[in-house]
Amino acid sequence: MIIDDIQAAATILAEGGVVAFPTETVYGLGADALNPDAVAKVFAIKGRPSHNPLIVHVASIEMAKAVASEWPDAAEKLAQTFWPGPLTIVVPKQGRVPSVVTGGGDTVALRMPAHEIARKLIKTFGGPIVGPSANASGTVSPTAASHVTQSLGESVPVLDGGPCERGIESTVVRVAQDSVNILRLGVIGRDEIARVVPVVETHATNDEDPLPSPGMLTRHYAPRTLTRIVDAKDIAITLAQHPNSALLTITPTNLPGAIAMPADASSYAKRLYAALREADAMGADLIIVERPTAIGPIWDAVRDRLRRASAEH
Ligand code: TXA
Ligand code: MG
Repeated sequence: MIIDDIQAAATILAEGGVVAFPTETVYGLGADALNPDAVAKVFAIKGRPSHNPLIVHVASIEMAKAVASEWPDAAEKLAQTFWPGPLTIVVPKQGRVPSVVTGGGDTVALRMPAHEIARKLIKTFGGPIVGPSANASGTVSPTAASHVTQSLGESVPVLDGGPCERGIESTVVRVAQDSVNILRLGVIGRDEIARVVPVVETHATNDEDPLPSPGMLTRHYAPRTLTRIVDAKDIAITLAQHPNSALLTITPTNLPGAIAMPADASSYAKRLYAALREADAMGADLIIVERPTAIGPIWDAVRDRLRRASAEH
C-alpha cells in the first residue's frame, strides 16, 4: 500500500510496525531498531534467516555513536567523507542494540542514507531504524515503490520516493583497528575508500568475492528465471540454443524483445534490478545478460550482483 505521509509512517514505527522507505540505493523495510518485536516482524515478512544481520539506518553521526560501543577514527573519517550516502560501516555494537538486529553477533552495521525521505523519516521517528532491502529474502532488490508491493504484498505500507538513484545496495565495510575490510561491493569503490582509510586486502581483488557478510549467500539478488551471463560474441549461439530467452544487452541489437541496457556504469546500476524484473516477467526459459567488460568500481559491483543473480540454485 503506497503512502505519502512521513508523520504517519513515523507513527507506525513508534507503534512497533513496519514501513518500507526509499533510499538512494534500494528501498528498505523499516522498523524501530531498538524494538526486538518490531525487528522480528521484518525477518518474518522477508523470510530472512535469523543469522543474517540487518543494517541500522541513522540520520546523524551522533545517532550512530549512540548504538556503537566503539567509534574508531577510521569510522569517523569514513562517515565524515561518505555520509550521507551508500556506505555501511560495521563497528562493535552497544548492549542496547537487540541481538535479533545483529544476527546474534557483537557488531552493528550503520548507514546514513542520502535520500531526503529516509532521513526525514528517521528524524521524525527520532531514532535508528533497521532497513534490509524491502524484498523477499534472496530475490531482486526493489528500486521502485511498486517493486516492494510486488514482492511483499499490499499489506506493507510503502513511502513512495520514486526510482532509486543508485540502484544497487550500499558498499559494506568492517572497521578493524585503523583499517577496513570490504564485505560487499557497491558504488563507492575500494580506491575511493582507500583514499580515506587503509583497506586491508582480503583474498579478493576487484571483481572477485570480497569477504562474505553473513548475508552474502552465493545465490542472491536473483530473478525466478534461470539467468546466465554471456560474452557478447556468444549471445547469438546461446539464443539459437534457447530461443525463448529474455535478453539484457549493452551492445545495440535489433533482436525482438531485447532490453537495451545503458553503456555507462551508473546508469546501468540504476536500471539493473528493474530490467531483471521486466525480463523475469516475460515468461522466458532463460535470461541472458551480456557480460559487461568495462573497468571501474561500479562495474565491479554490477558484476558482483550479476554473478549472484546467475548462481545455481
Ligand atoms: O543499500 C543498502 O544497504 C540497503 C538500503 C535499504 O539501505 N540495505 C540493504 O540491506 O541492502 P540488506 O539487509 O539487504 O543487506 C545488508 C548486508 C547483508 O549482506 C548483511 O549480511 C550485511 O549487510 N551485514 C549487516 N550487518 C552486518 C554485520 N554486523 N556484520 C557484517 N555484515 C553485516
Ligand atoms: Mg537484501
